[in-house]
This record gives sequence, C-alpha cells and structure tokens, in this order.
Amino acid sequence: MNAPTESVLLSNEQDALWYKDAIIYQLHVKSFFDSNDDGIGDFPGLISKLDYIAKLGVNTLWLLPFYPSPRLDDGYDISDYRAVHPEYGTLHDFKRFLDAAHRRGLRVIIELVINHTSDQHRWFQRARHAKPGSVLRDYYVWSDTDKKYDGTRIIFIDTERSNWTWDPEAKAYYWHRFYSHQPDLNFDNPRVIEAVLGVMRFWLDMGVDGLRLDAVPYLVEREGTNNENLPETHTVLKRIRAEIDASFPGRMLLAEANQWPEDTKEYFGQGDECHMAFHFPLMPRMYMALAREDRFPITDIMRQTPQIPDNCQWAIFLRNHDELTLEMVTDSERDYLWQTYATDRRARINLGIRRRLAPLLERDRRRIELMNCLLLSMPGAPVIYYGDEIGMGDNIRLGDRDGVRTPMQWSPDRNGGFSRADPNALALPLVMDPLYGFEVVNAESQARDRHSLLQWMRRMLAIRRTHAAFGRGSLRFLYPKNRKVLAYLRELDSETILCVANVSHQPQAVELDLSEFAGRVPVEMDGGSAFPPVGQLTYLLTLPPYGFYWFVLTQESDGPSWHTPAPEPMPDYVTIVLRNQLADVLASVAGIELARDTIPAYLGKRRWFAAKDQSLQSARIAYLARLPGGDRELLLSELEVKTDGKTSRWMLPLSMVWEDEPTAALPTQLALARVRRGRRVGLLTDAFSLSGFAHQMLASLASGAEIETTEGRIVFEAAPDKVELLQRPPDSQVLWLSAEQSNSSLVVDDAVMLKVFRRIAPGQHPEAEMSRYLTANGFANSPLMLGEVRRMDNEGERFSLAVAQSFVRNQGDAWTWTLDQFNRSLDNHATREANEEARHDDIHDYKEFAATMGRQLGTMHVVLARATDDDAFAPRLAGPEDVATWVERARASLDRAFDALAQRTTWENEQVAAEAQEMLAPCWAVLPGAARQA
Ligand code: GLC
Ligand code: CA
Repeated sequence: MNAPTESVLLSNEQDALWYKDAIIYQLHVKSFFDSNDDGIGDFPGLISKLDYIAKLGVNTLWLLPFYPSPRLDDGYDISDYRAVHPEYGTLHDFKRFLDAAHRRGLRVIIELVINHTSDQHRWFQRARHAKPGSVLRDYYVWSDTDKKYDGTRIIFIDTERSNWTWDPEAKAYYWHRFYSHQPDLNFDNPRVIEAVLGVMRFWLDMGVDGLRLDAVPYLVEREGTNNENLPETHTVLKRIRAEIDASFPGRMLLAEANQWPEDTKEYFGQGDECHMAFHFPLMPRMYMALAREDRFPITDIMRQTPQIPDNCQWAIFLRNHDELTLEMVTDSERDYLWQTYATDRRARINLGIRRRLAPLLERDRRRIELMNCLLLSMPGAPVIYYGDEIGMGDNIRLGDRDGVRTPMQWSPDRNGGFSRADPNALALPLVMDPLYGFEVVNAESQARDRHSLLQWMRRMLAIRRTHAAFGRGSLRFLYPKNRKVLAYLRELDSETILCVANVSHQPQAVELDLSEFAGRVPVEMDGGSAFPPVGQLTYLLTLPPYGFYWFVLTQESDGPSWHTPAPEPMPDYVTIVLRNQLADVLASVAGIELARDTIPAYLGKRRWFAAKDQSLQSARIAYLARLPGGDRELLLSELEVKTDGKTSRWMLPLSMVWEDEPTAALPTQLALARVRRGRRVGLLTDAFSLSGFAHQMLASLASGAEIETTEGRIVFEAAPDKVELLQRPPDSQVLWLSAEQSNSSLVVDDAVMLKVFRRIAPGQHPEAEMSRYLTANGFANSPLMLGEVRRMDNEGERFSLAVAQSFVRNQGDAWTWTLDQFNRSLDNHATREANEEARHDDIHDYKEFAATMGRQLGTMHVVLARATDDDAFAPRLAGPEDVATWVERARASLDRAFDALAQRTTWENEQVAAEAQEMLAPCWAVLPGAARQA
C-alpha cells in the first residue's frame, strides 16, 4: 500500500477564503464505518476510512450531527451540545479524528443546530418546570394558545399538524418548526444567544473549520409574518459572525436556508453574516432540465441568482441526507418532477423525494456523470453525499429519510464491509437488492475497476481541484439555438473554461458563437485532446446522449496535428477577361496588374509563404509553362517576390475552373481572381487544387516531358524503372493532404505522392536528394523516389520544383505515437491502484517499438556509411569535435529538465516533493556529461 498522501494544510488565517475552493464530502458517522462491531458507525471507524476520502479528491468533510440525542430526528434532536453520542465514540475520539483529517489536508465542517433542541435537552426540561415569564422558561417559545403565528407554514407536513404542541408539565403550548419533540429556542432571550455562542466557541476552540447552521431562517418569530427570514434573525446571525471574526478568523459559517435565491442572498449580508449558503433552487432544476430535455430551468434560475459579496460562496449539491426537496419549485413543476422521478409513491415524503442520486437516474451512468459534471462546474463549492460516488442505492421502505442514510457499502463482504456485527444489530440495514446491493455496488470492487463510477469521480475531482476557475470564476451562459444544449463559460483571470452539456437522451449538435475567442484552441480537460481552433464562424460540436465536455480555451496550445485549417479566401476578386489562352493573357498587361494588385494580398494569406512578416515590395510572374497534354490549360509558374531588399521565388501553378463545372471547395478557397470568357465565368486558381494538375504532372514525369521557358528548361525525370508506377489512369483518385504547408502534397491512387515545393531555391532540394540516394542504394524503409521535376536555368543552375514518391500507407508518425503511448500509461497509473505488472507491460510494449525504430535507423546509417563517388554522401569520420557537440547538446537538454524541476515549488504531495528533491541532489552531478553543478 502506498503511504497516505499528506498534503500540507495552510492555516485558516493564512488561507481565509479556503471555503471558496472547498469540495465537500458529506457523511454520517453512524453509517460510515463501525470499528467495534456493535453495528453503529463511529469516530475510530471514520478515522480508518480517511485515506479513502482523501484519495477520492475532496478537501472538506461535513459531518451530520454526532451529539448525544434520542435520535428521533437522526441526531438533529440534540440533547447535549458539548459531547459526542456515546455510540459514536468520545470527545477524545473526535479530537483524534479532527487531527487525522487535518493531517490529510481535509477541513471539517460540523453541525450547529440552534433553531431547536431535543425535548430531552436539559434546557427544555428546566424550562417546562420554570416559572412562566422567567429567563429559564423563556429559553423556548411558549403560548397559551395554538393560534399564534398562524401565518407560518408547516415543514414536516406528513407528520405534523401544527407548529404548537401542548406541554402538560408547563401547561402551555411550545413552538416548533419541525417535529413536536424539537422545541424551538427563543432568540429574543439574550441568554439563549449567549448559550449558543458558548456552544460555538466550544467546537471552534477544538479546531473545527466550519459550522453548518441548520434551519437558520426560522430563528426569530414575529406576529403577522410567515416567520422566515426575519430581519431579527439576520441580526442574530450578524452577532454570531462578529464573534467568528473577532475570535476565530478563517472559520466558516454555512447557512442551510431552503429559500429563493433573493432571500438566501440575505444570509450573506454585506459579507458580514454567513460565508456560505446552499443554493437550494438550483438543485431541483438540474433534475428538471434532464426531465424536460431543456436547459431553460438551469439558465433561468442562474439568471435569477444575484451576485454575492466577494468573500462569500454558494454550496451546491445534487443530493443530501434529506429528501430531495421540491419546496423551491412551482406546484406544476413539483408535479412534473414527482411524476418523473418518484412514480412510486413511497419515494415521496413531505414536499420531496427520498431517493439517492443513482436510483433517481435509474443507474444510467451517462446521466449520473452528466449531473456530476454540472455539480462540479456550476458556480459554488460542490457537496458530494457519501455513497453517491459509487452509485449507492436507497431503501424507500425505511421510515422517514433513513432510506438515504443506510451504511456505506465498502465491500462485498458481510454487511457490505461496514460492520462485523450481527446483521440484525445494525443501526440501519444495508441495501441488499439485486441492482444496488453491496455485493454489486461497493467501494472495493470499484477501486479495482478502471471504468467504475468511483474512478471516474476521482478523475473529475482531480480536474476540478486543479482549476480555480470552477470555484472562483465568473459564470457566463452562451445561448446556442439548440436548447437541449447547455453551454457556459467559467472565467478567472486569464483562464477560460468552456462547459457544454447535452441534457437530452439523443445525440445533439450545437453551434456555439465563440468568435471572441478566435484563434484559441479548445483542449478537452479529461483526456487533454486538442480540438480545432476557434474561428470566426460558429463552432460546431456534436455530443452523444447526455454528453458533456469541459474545455480550456488555451492561447498557447497548438491545434490538433490532424487539423487542416480552411484556406482563407480573398475578400473580393478582380475580373480578368480572356479572349484566347490564359497563358497569353497573363503574359500581357493583365498579368502585370495581377502581380501588382492581387498577388501580394494573396501571398499574405498563404501559410506556405514564409515571408509574410516582411513588407512585400513587388511581385512578378517570372514565367508561365503549360503542362503538355490534357484539355485544361495548366500552367507552372514561379513568382518572383521582393521583400525588404531580398528576392525570393515561389511556385504557384495556375489554372481556371468554370462556374458551370462541378467543383470542390479547395479551388474556390484558393482562387485569385474571376475570369470571364464571353458569357462563361469562372475563377483563376492555384492549379494544385485541381485533380487534372496531379494527373498531368505524373503523366509528364512518366513521359519524360521537357518544357522550354523564358527562364530555362523544365525537365520531368522519372527514376529508372519507376515509370510504370507513375502511369495512372486519368480518372484515378486524388487525395489532397495539405494545400497550405511549405510543401503542398497530394496522393494519387493511394500509390504516388506528389509534393510541390513552394519555395524555389537553387541547388538540390535536400528531400529530393536524400530520397533519390536512399532509393538508388536499395534502402527499403523510406518512400521510393519515383521522379523529380526540376528547372535548369540558362546558366545551368538547377531548381527542384516537385518530387513524386511512393506513398506509404501509415498510422501516423512515431513521435506522436510515442507521446500518445506515454500519456495513456500516465493516465492509467493515475487512476489504477499501483500495479507493477501493468507498468511493466506498458514499458515492454514500448521497448519493442523502440527496438524496431532503432533497427531501421541503423540500417539507414549502414547505407549512408557506404563508400560512394557522390561527394555529397561520402562518409566522414566523426572526430572529437563532433562528440563534443553531441555531449553539449545532451547536457543542455538535461540542464533544461533540471531547471524546470528546480523552478517548480508546489507539489501534489510530500512524497513527490521528496522525490523531486532527490533528483536535484548533488549526486546527479557525477552523471557523465550531466552539467548539474551541485
Ligand atoms: C434540517 C436538516 C434535517 C432536519 C431538520 C430539523 O433541515 O437537514 O435533516 O430534520 O433540519 O433539524
Ligand atoms: Ca460502533
């Protein structure tokens, strides 16, 4: 087993806004892990599972109430605020837990339930016996009638008839917003506020990082109101906050206020009440969007969500320990959601649905992943409910909300590995049905399964954790016309994340207006694949059913290697009028005008024109040479271009396409001008874009054609015995590989590759030269040289214009293949449990490949090392100077690697940090050639 990763936890004072980046895991001590086999989860059990939680990738824990309690509301009915329920352990156990969590970089939020206590609490027992009107009696809210405050709704409508219950002892009614055994504390009594602050200090002194304020809108009551969100309640909260700011800076208050966004916002105050609050209305709307297959419920509620103060943060969630509350939707929306997600009436309770995430989504991995992606990328700190990371089920036959609080399913063993007690002794039974039972759904199996939900969650959380924009960035919706697609930007400083989700069960395409990001490359965040760069036109994406993408819109990344950007067409064309041949017209004044008015702008748009950054002074068509044969007039031509006093030559073969001919996109994209002959109109274009050009070039090579030009002779020379390969039928298929690179290449019949060199310079073209030499000397592993087109000028200087080579079908290049291979195995190691064997397999595969590469390269060097009459290829012995250069080069590259390592200051965890330190240790300086100076 690996040692647990211990990340360093900055103190709360140093990192006072830590909660903005919180990723919260909510759990119930009672149901997490039982260490002493009594059937009830406990703190020692939780401590033993902290590594699992840390490894999941969250950074904050939220514990359900663990205080002494009759547990009639599963612990929210507290009978002693300053102790631990004996079945869960001792205060000492709690402290040990807190330390152990902090050591793992996990912060801890506990419950501060102050709206009410259990009726078993000492304060209540004292109150009911105290004199009416006395301070002790007034710890709670009493009345002689049950008609007071009758504008107040009942929350637990399935069990409670009234918010008042008669106490025969006190001979009065007491007020309660929840169960009748949970009397509400009276916040009009200053002693109550003092008592509550005392409880708060007790836990904060111990070191807890945050407090969830349970049921906080109901603290104060006033006649004639609905008794929710009253200004007096906010006054109490400000008092609590002031105490935190004064004595516990860096600690956090999280409000549970099941209210509309504008009401919830009040709980942040001016940044002087709660630091965080749950976003209740967003939650059901995520389910609604899926049910209706329409993004509207989400965009709509987020538009209604006000800005919150800078030092505040939302907490967002899909599920929790309560029913999925539908209080914050309209009546008709509630009916719709009930019908969709709770057809079984037993799943309904109060105004909600008591189900876990996986059963709500019918175990559909696609929808579970989609909802989690929303959770992790919407503004706020995500809260994950324990067990949902493995897709745990529920048990709607259990009472109240117990069905979603069953024991965590650790393994397929007895009691799901939760406890070794007699199954009858468990606090709650495990889920045992055939779909969700612990034998099928458990953490242990999923840890071993690379494709499990658990592994997927770990991966997504790792991404979520490393991009602050998710927690802190702004939110901006894009509104593509396809409403089944939700698209939004999360932006922080210079980072822009694009999230796109298909909320429907069918594949969808979407066109996004990303023009403000033109030129940026979307890099998908899970796999790291680059997508084609964003352009001015709408960006087309397709998504599988319930598909989801997260992209970083990067400025630095290159687009994908396979991406061919569309050539940029000319903004507008001049029209050239033809009476006879194109060559004649271009040789006349029309050609001079074309070179003067059009060609500079045209070259500026060509990727192969390497002199774009220089100012172009003049251009001229140096010569025009018609390719022999064929109906179409195809002209080889070179442009002579003057830039900053330098002259260069560029190949631009020319031809025409007529409007009434069927044409592909490329000739249009590469057009220079319009042409008209009588009534017929067409375009003057780069002949390379026409299949006729490919055919005529090969035919000319096969026949050994020669063309006289004003600048010498163009010679088509086929390699000896390769003529047959160059003879291709006139209808053979042409595939353009790249029209816009320094060499424009195309493939004919899957057999011959024709490369047209764009930049024309005197001397042999190195590629032509090398290819010819290797072919002539029988090296079998490079493409065969089939022929070369060259111009011999009047002084006898040679210029390579094009080459034909055999086309080798291939699976891409070794470099990309190698990078892919390494990335894949890195990925594997990140998610899989450390497994030496798998690691070995990866290396083994690559070794074979590297050996093959080495052999091929060796054979090539054998050929190149042979004695020859050809001066350019005559071998030369490497001398000490050569060796010195190689050493220098290796040194420099090692240096760069060490420097990069030394510059990095933050590491994943201490283990990696130590390994890095070790790499930088002086002992490496003794490596032969390593330039690292200690
Ligand atoms: C909160 C809790 C819920 C509890 C209620 C009364 O809403 O989340 O579980 O029943 O308060 O304490
Ligand atoms: Ca126990």
